[in-house]
Amino acid sequence: MKILILHGPNLNLLGIREPAVYGSMTLKEINRMLLELGSELGCEISIVQSNCEGTLVDAIQSASGKFDGILINPAAYTHTSVALRDAISAVAIPTVEVHLSNIHSREDFRAKSFVAPIALGQISGFGADSYLLGLRALCNHIKK
Ligand code: DQA
Repeated sequence: MKILILHGPNLNLLGIREPAVYGSMTLKEINRMLLELGSELGCEISIVQSNCEGTLVDAIQSASGKFDGILINPAAYTHTSVALRDAISAVAIPTVEVHLSNIHSREDFRAKSFVAPIALGQISGFGADSYLLGLRALCNHIKK
């Protein structure tokens, strides 16, 4: 089972970026936890972080035929990107959307996700655990 993990813009700054909102773990630490859980669940993981919408679209397009699932934190593109949503729809790979913060309890503009309607599900508000819960849910779904 192969899973592509995508981190959107500004997530490279985790650890120093608004720790009261996003926690104190760095992206490197989150990735290490995901790789550990991946090997426990028997899935091979590739990870991409980009601040560029087009790079994320390219990564989704090239996942076609290579990955069984996508775990994505689209970050700010969650609330703006029809292109990311269309790319996920186009490849039709089961996708789980995750957020560190609870996007429904923050500013109104964050409650809208372009990705959620075409995702298997959304996990939001559990800090780094959102990623781990999302990976488990995605793997269980694919195994079924
Ligand atoms: C985020 C929430 C988004 O609203 C924000 O733009 C981010 C991070 C989260 O993980 O909580 O960059 O996706």
